[in-house]
Amino acid sequence: MRAAVVVRYGPPEQVVVTDVRTPEPRPGEVLVRVEAAAVTAGDARLRAGRFPAGFGVLARLGVGLRGPRARILGGTLSGRIERVGRDVTRFSPGDLVAGMTGMRLGTHAEYATVRAASLVPKPAGVRHSDAAGVLFGGTTALWFLRQRARIRAGHRVLVNGASGAVGSSAVQIAAHLGATVTAVTSARNTAFVTGLGAHRVVDYTTTPVNRLDERFDIVFDAVGNISRAEGLRLLAPGGSLVLAVANLLDTLRARGPVLAGPARERAEDFGYLLDLVASGQFAPVTEVVGGLDRLPEAHRRVDTGRKVGNLVITPHSAAG
Ligand SMILES: NC(=O)c1ccc[n+]([C@@H]2O[C@H](COP(=O)([O-])OP(=O)(O)OC[C@H]3O[C@@H](n4cnc5c(N)ncnc54)[C@H](OP(=O)(O)O)[C@@H]3O)[C@@H](O)[C@H]2O)c1
Repeated sequence: MRAAVVVRYGPPEQVVVTDVRTPEPRPGEVLVRVEAAAVTAGDARLRAGRFPAGFGVLARLGVGLRGPRARILGGTLSGRIERVGRDVTRFSPGDLVAGMTGMRLGTHAEYATVRAASLVPKPAGVRHSDAAGVLFGGTTALWFLRQRARIRAGHRVLVNGASGAVGSSAVQIAAHLGATVTAVTSARNTAFVTGLGAHRVVDYTTTPVNRLDERFDIVFDAVGNISRAEGLRLLAPGGSLVLAVANLLDTLRARGPVLAGPARERAEDFGYLLDLVASGQFAPVTEVVGGLDRLPEAHRRVDTGRKVGNLVITPHSAAG
């Protein structure tokens, strides 16, 4: 099969499309024909070997010293089951599914093996590109807002980085769950985040977040430029500060109102999100960039730090 491989950390040109052996599903796994896969901030970090401050050595010990141990990046997918491994009873060949692959990655390829427990059926009305697109930001937003910060109707929620993959999901989920959302973004994305359900927009180029005089029940930083002290100052009593991009020190001392660390990938959250998309209650913000050969371009766009929503590749589309 064709797959995009990264051998050494570096710029987007490190992503090289080549022929590799199609993987075999082990017990509990299925082989999926990848119809769509997202290209995320996580993929760009792994390709570049660029981790939040303080994590450099630890992260490289974990994921690879000179290059990613999992050479085929990509952590989300939507596609069709080709084969099922031993002990898989939930799915059959031909089923349409979506899910995430955790640290195994591997979805920037024509086929990927995935644990059956990490997949859910793709609702019929949801496009592969939208299913693959919403999972990265959507599961992160759900994990922090629902599981960790216990969001409730009526909460005042500030989302910093509201136009990105995580932020655009956080705005929509918070609004869907009845919160009042203040979105921080640059002026060009004002209409976009308002359309997602933000009640108010703060343009960070004219109003830095640390000058805001209000208090929020949840402050969700999806950029990494709100310090712990600034974030705590913005909290109402009993509030929660989500640092989705925390440095090592803030991750180690995250307790009480400060929430950090990796979001969990839970199949029940995949199902919840895809059902919201299917019923029109969550608008997927996805752009299909092209086939595998367009991956370097997709990485370049993620590297700008200014992409809107989610970028998706479709590995079986023609080259170019
Ligand atoms: N903890 C976890 O488990 C977890 C999970 C997923 C992601 N993350 C991390 O979360 C971060 C965000 O991921 P993402 O996928 O959402 O990134 P992304 O899609 O690349 O975010 C891009 C967006 O960030 C906005 N932005 C850039 N600078 C900003 C600023 N100073 N203030 C406000 N908005 C700004 C941009 O809007 P403008 O163009 O308007 O500036 C752009 O729309 C990444 O660092 C990622 O590694 C953590």
